[in-house]
Amino acid sequence: MSETLERWGSRRAFILAVTGAAVGLGNIWRFPYMTGENGGAVFLLLYVVFVLILGLPIMMAEILVGRAGRRGPMHALAHLARQAGVSPHWRWLGLFGALTVFFILSFYSVVSGWSIEYLIESVNGNFSGRTPDEIGASFDAFLADPLRMTFNHTLFMLLTMSVVAAGISGGLERLNNLLMPLLYILLVVLVGYAVTTDGFGTAMAWLFTPDLEAITLSVVLNAMGHAFFTLAVGACALMAYGAYMPDHQSLPRAVAAVAVLDVAVALLAGIAIFSVVFSQGMDPAEGPGLMFVTLPIAFSDLPGGPLWLGVFFLLLLLATWTSSINLAEPLVAILTDAGLKRGKAAALIGSSVWLVGLLSVFSFSSLSEVKWLAGMNFFELVTTVPLEFFLPIGGLLIAIFAAWIMPANTAMRSLDAGPGGFRLWRGLVRYVSIPLVVIVLLSALW
Ligand code: TRP
Repeated sequence: MSETLERWGSRRAFILAVTGAAVGLGNIWRFPYMTGENGGAVFLLLYVVFVLILGLPIMMAEILVGRAGRRGPMHALAHLARQAGVSPHWRWLGLFGALTVFFILSFYSVVSGWSIEYLIESVNGNFSGRTPDEIGASFDAFLADPLRMTFNHTLFMLLTMSVVAAGISGGLERLNNLLMPLLYILLVVLVGYAVTTDGFGTAMAWLFTPDLEAITLSVVLNAMGHAFFTLAVGACALMAYGAYMPDHQSLPRAVAAVAVLDVAVALLAGIAIFSVVFSQGMDPAEGPGLMFVTLPIAFSDLPGGPLWLGVFFLLLLLATWTSSINLAEPLVAILTDAGLKRGKAAALIGSSVWLVGLLSVFSFSSLSEVKWLAGMNFFELVTTVPLEFFLPIGGLLIAIFAAWIMPANTAMRSLDAGPGGFRLWRGLVRYVSIPLVVIVLLSALW
């Protein structure tokens, strides 16, 4: 009896942890503004297609490796590589993943800090009775204030690192699980409100009638990067969670559940946000500020708006918190594997990521014109290159390792979907996912 209970508990715990990693800024903040910048429906279509044929199969590959290795990413890769009779240098893939999450976490913390600011502002009622123009202007004023941004970035980094240092992320995930349904309900309420706005019809048409001729290489690249980012795939961060995955749990079933939840959040947020965009005559391609301007406008039209806006940002903060813990964990694990104490490792990683994050903070004021690469300032650089290149490259290598290098019986056992399910997965990874990522990356780098 107690054994079944325990297993049930850990099965749930695994899905909770992965959902916690997946649902975050990618769904509510980045998905809408990327959709806006990439012409709407074509981006949405490509994103969903990439989630299905790249994100999901490679997510399975990544977790499968961790589960088969039963160790942290670098050790797991080296161990499995030796077992397969190939070079243990595969372990460096774990380090590449750590580099990727380092840069992602540096901006993730800054943007999560914006949610803290907006949580405080909405609780203080600073958005009530304001016109949409005033709400837009107050976001610009906030971005121009590096001190306030640094304060919130620091606070978020401390929140993340204290949980990582204490190793108590399980508690947070349970809390998250308790409160996530409320986030869905709030999003559904927002969509209900969206239906009543003038912009709803336009938003739906704009989101759901793709013009296939509008597909360009940059839209494809953006959608691919986003599919990896939103599912938390490609940086060996989920590999680490796979190591704790219990036996007798079908991997495809577990990750399919996560993907459905993840895409649902993005869609609901997208419908709500673009209805506001079109009813206010705003520009869909407004950029990273999109969510922070549209949601206060939407809520300020609803009864009890300021309160619910506060609740919304609180839930968003919780969702980003569990994501950032997933981002930080592989970094800390590298140092603890090297013999450092957990607390020290967390402090070291936290302060280095924090420092690099300051470059993103100042990208909205004094460093806005400092271009690092291809005309991008630091914030633009870290929100592009790690997502659109590092994650797909990491995912590609993970997929090659799982589907071509690992012995079939080890991989099959770890996937836990029977021989038929295994062949289907491996065929998809070998002949669809891998070639597709290669083609997109090569065309982009050409
Ligand atoms: N998926 C998260 C989001 O959508 C971000 C994230 C968490 C992530 N862990 C990751 C992205 C690991 C890449 C790799 O907000």
